Amino acid sequence: MTDIVRFGVSLPKELLNEFDRHIKSSSYSSRSKAIEDLIREDLIDKTWTDRSKISAGIITLVYNNHKRELSNNLVCIQHDNQDLIISSQHVHLSHENCLEVIVVKGKSGKIKKLADKLKSEKGVKHVSLIATIAG
Ligand code: NI
Repeated sequence: MTDIVRFGVSLPKELLNEFDRHIKSSSYSSRSKAIEDLIREDLIDKTWTDRSKISAGIITLVYNNHKRELSNNLVCIQHDNQDLIISSQHVHLSHENCLEVIVVKGKSGKIKKLADKLKSEKGVKHVSLIATIAG
């Protein structure tokens, strides 16, 4: 079980009032949980800044399946990066568009490079990388 530590924080009153309004509108049940999430977000950002740190994430991409060679290229890129890819799911969004959701884990620099490579393919309409913690 995780040890919980209590500590005091001094903040400008106005800032705290604004934060309380924000957490109320975000459905947080406590100030502690909201602060815990902010700290985690900051630590995740730091992990993703250091390109050698092991991270996990999700790459989503939407592409036009009528573009010649594109589907093959995207599969080849994924095969070349199989050490990073844990799983992937393909969804036929519409007659023209496909969505792929790729779960990745590895060095954050390599994950970013993979997302950039997928993004640079002609016919890829949107790529996003959602960064999270590896463990
Ligand atoms: Ni499809």
